[in-house]
Amino acid sequence: MLVLGIESSCDETGVALVDVQGAAVPRLLSHALHSQIAMHQAYGGVVPELASRDHIRRVLPLAQSVLAESGHDLGEVDVVAYTRGPGLAGALLVGAGVACALGAALERPVLGVHHLEGHLLSPFLSADPPEFPFVALLVSGGHTQLMEVDGVGHYKVLGETIDDAAGEAFDKSAKLLGLPYPGGPWLAKLSESGSETAFKLPRPLLHSGDLDFSFAGLKTAVLTQVRKLGDELEANKSDLAASTQAAIVEVLLKKSLAALDRTGLKRLVVAGGVGANKRLREQLNAACAKRGVRVHYPELHLCTDNGAMIAMAGAMRVQAGLEQPQSRYAFDVKPRWPLDALPVAA
Ligand code: KG4
Ligand code: ZN
Repeated sequence: MLVLGIESSCDETGVALVDVQGAAVPRLLSHALHSQIAMHQAYGGVVPELASRDHIRRVLPLAQSVLAESGHDLGEVDVVAYTRGPGLAGALLVGAGVACALGAALERPVLGVHHLEGHLLSPFLSADPPEFPFVALLVSGGHTQLMEVDGVGHYKVLGETIDDAAGEAFDKSAKLLGLPYPGGPWLAKLSESGSETAFKLPRPLLHSGDLDFSFAGLKTAVLTQVRKLGDELEANKSDLAASTQAAIVEVLLKKSLAALDRTGLKRLVVAGGVGANKRLREQLNAACAKRGVRVHYPELHLCTDNGAMIAMAGAMRVQAGLEQPQSRYAFDVKPRWPLDALPVAA
């Protein structure tokens, strides 16, 4: 079974083709991505209307190149999966509209996929996929959650952010330091030449005893430091960046370890854009090695948004019998969509 996946929830247009053979982990045949980051950079953040218009321009050429690279024809596609939410409404509508139009024209069913489930299952695209059950640390630009994952569709939220997401903490702090959008990778790069202990920054909810996160206070603390430094900011920028990254990483690390303790599980899956962070990976790897816990990540280039994870999540849901792709081509999108609202197995 060939599943074509389309991602258009925010500022990347992604298309991919995945092959499902029996019960084996579905195999990625090809994928293509267009990032709008350069386009939005001039505005310091994503401009939703520009995002939608660019998705319209990119999605079909990307689909054509994915099919050409895989050596398959459009007519061979069995299911068209697309990101139904959460995300920007207009951007989501482009992917949903194209997927449903393709489905109707090909007389093939379509399947709306949850973007976060895509991130969550993205480590299955790697050469060394995880086994269930595992603890998942989902750290994207808009979401930060710890989950207990017993199988496809079996997600129990253990804790989540009560305000900003980890990616937002990176991005907003980076903006305060005058770094370009999206700030996460820039702040990470700058941190390499800075001292993690130069500035004392808060580790919100570190000792709260639960698995929730809060990052809004950290951003305020960074702002206070930026104001205090004034003209001295430039000379201290890499130290402030490194101290900020250290604060975010420490909270993510400690809470992940607490989630492993609480569940007794010996496997951790890290997914979402912040999962690309080198310092986070180093710290998680070291702490988990000590405890005999295996850590799985998506491949670096599949940490941020892409079509492969959407094709994969769609393929795994169909394979698990959780969902029948629909041959009704009326569509809606869900800009807000809790992950634990998805259908699960009986
Ligand atoms: O998962 P993603 O592509 O988009 C959402 O679904 O939100 O995540 C994007 C987020 C942004 O906040 C970006 O700054 C962050 O991931 N990010 C990073 C790194 N690479 C991407 N944050 C820290 N270090 C990185 N290397
Ligand atoms: Zn994402």
